[in-house]
Amino acid sequence: MITKYCITDNNSIDETIIKEAGEIIKKGGLVAFPTETVYGLGGDGLNPESSKKIYAAKGRPSDNPLIIHIADINDLQRITARVPQVAMLLADKYWPGPLTMIFEKADCVPYETTGGLETVAVRFPSHPVAKAFIKAAGGFVAAPSANLSGRPSPTHGEHVRQDMDGRIEMIIDAGPCEIGLESTIIDCTGEYPMLLRPGYVSYDMLAKEMERLDKDPAVFGGDTSTVPKAPGMKYRHYAPKGQLTIVSGTEEKVCEYIVKQIKDKPEGLRIGVISCSDSIQNYSSADYVADIGQRGDEMTIASRLFDILRSFDEENIDIIFSEEFDTPQMGMAIMNRLIKAAGHQIVRVE
Ligand code: TXA
Ligand code: MG
Repeated sequence: MITKYCITDNNSIDETIIKEAGEIIKKGGLVAFPTETVYGLGGDGLNPESSKKIYAAKGRPSDNPLIIHIADINDLQRITARVPQVAMLLADKYWPGPLTMIFEKADCVPYETTGGLETVAVRFPSHPVAKAFIKAAGGFVAAPSANLSGRPSPTHGEHVRQDMDGRIEMIIDAGPCEIGLESTIIDCTGEYPMLLRPGYVSYDMLAKEMERLDKDPAVFGGDTSTVPKAPGMKYRHYAPKGQLTIVSGTEEKVCEYIVKQIKDKPEGLRIGVISCSDSIQNYSSADYVADIGQRGDEMTIASRLFDILRSFDEENIDIIFSEEFDTPQMGMAIMNRLIKAAGHQIVRVE
């Protein structure tokens, strides 16, 4: 298959591209599109054949459900059986935006889209191109992140091309994604809502809106005896080919440790570092240093993370050390992705 690569501006959207993309979806094809979090790999969420194609294009296990993206709050009713009041409140506050909510599904949502579950994940993104595209596509776009299964989520059109070229009908490139980490996921089907995946909308922001907010114990706090409620959270993800280790501790100790690792590096191997701009000068003898932004600038750190993880493969790095980025609002989300990428390999140097 030849993948059509189309570039559009966020401010003056190319309507011919959007119309063509919408037609592809309606005919059962696949289109990758930008959102404010990461690029999505879209298909018709109400068409079981489209969802099957999404799994095939990503190489994703089919028990891992897809998020249905809408562009009109009135469409929520059509795909859900029940919308609790707390969800309406959150929708009011955070939609359109980087929040996904889980509901009991309506009959029209095929099990192919929900990975066999009775529930459906729904998100109303704020990105102008995403909104226009979802409308043109009929209103219900099922979309996982547009990466090959296991790779970091794409935050630039070029990342999507690396993973999806030849596998889907079209890629819409509208530049880098603003947030750069996937949406926060909250399950609204239980007695109390439960946070399943951290994102830009933090636990504290959500907890403020309700009496009680639980956290999935399998994701937060490392309870290994239960499986995550969001099936995708159990899979290995984001990992670069090189061995990544997170170094945790005071700034000074972390830096000292990483500098020593660079000095003692085994012969013939290439070593890389993920560093804040503040401490980058310390690592000049590494083979490759990725600058993730100022320590206090969590928007920049989040938006660069996946691009940086991909860049280590291009630089053929064998051993990678990363500083820790435990920032106030998005720290939980940033560290969740980084820890997964490191396969839970953390060294504490306090
Ligand atoms: O920001 C995002 O959410 C991006 C953009 C494209 O919108 N999408 C995204 O999709 O990250 P994906 O498929 O890579 O991650 C969706 C996660 C998976 O971990 C999946 O298991 C979980 O959501 N999920 C989907 N439906 C679910 C359901 N009914 N119950 C529990 N978890 C669900
Ligand atoms: Mg994903």
